[in-house]
Amino acid sequence: MRFFLDSANLNEIEKAWNMGVIAGVTTNPSLVAKEEGDFFEMIRRIAAIVDGPISAEVIALDGEGMIAEGRELAAIHPNIVVKIPMTHEGLRAVKTLNSEKIKTNVTLVFTPTQALLAARAGASYVSPFLGRLDDIGEDGISLLNDICRIYELYDLDCRVIAASIRSPLHVLESARVGADVATVPYAVLLRLFEHPLTSAGIEKFLADWQKR
Ligand code: E4P
Repeated sequence: MRFFLDSANLNEIEKAWNMGVIAGVTTNPSLVAKEEGDFFEMIRRIAAIVDGPISAEVIALDGEGMIAEGRELAAIHPNIVVKIPMTHEGLRAVKTLNSEKIKTNVTLVFTPTQALLAARAGASYVSPFLGRLDDIGEDGISLLNDICRIYELYDLDCRVIAASIRSPLHVLESARVGADVATVPYAVLLRLFEHPLTSAGIEKFLADWQKR
C-alpha cells in the first residue's frame, strides 16, 4: 500500500514529501477552501513539490462542465488526476476523459456497486470514504474490503484509495484488506511514526552511550 497526503496545504505537503514516505496528494474543495490563493496556481505548486499523482477536483455538476474543467486541470501537469464525484454525469465525464488518456479519481464512493460502476466507466482510481461511513454507524473497512475483493475477482484496472481516514487504525486496516493507497491527513501521517517504546528506546540508547 502506498501513502498519499490528503491536504492542499503547501507547507504540510512539502514536509510530508521530504519525509520520503508519500507518493502523491489528494485535494478536495473543502481542503482547497482552507488555503489562500488561486486554485490552479495551488495545484501547479503542489505538482512542483510532489513527483506523483495529484488529485484535483472539479466543481461543475454537469458532464460537459466536468469534462471542460477536467481538461483544464489535466493541462496543468502530467501528474494531475481529475477528481470527479460519483454521479451519472460524473461517470459520463470519466468515460470521455479516459478516452483522452486523462486520469480520473471517482470520489464520494460509499457502496461496492458504485465502485464497480466507476471502474467500468474507466476511472483510474476510486475513493471510498471510510471515516464518513463510520461516522453514521456503518463500516468503512468492510466497504473497502468488498471493493478490493470485487476488483480482484474481475481483474479491474482501477486503483483503490482508502479515503476519509481518521486514525492509524484505519491505515492498518486499509493495508490489511489490500488497498492500493491510503490518503492520510498530515496529523494522521505524523501519528504513524510514533510509538512510546521507540522514543524510550532512543532515550535509553543515548543515555547508555553517554556512560561510556
Ligand atoms: C478524499 O480524497 C477526500 O479528500 C478526503 O479523504 C475526505 O476526508 P474527510 O471525510 O475527512 O473530509
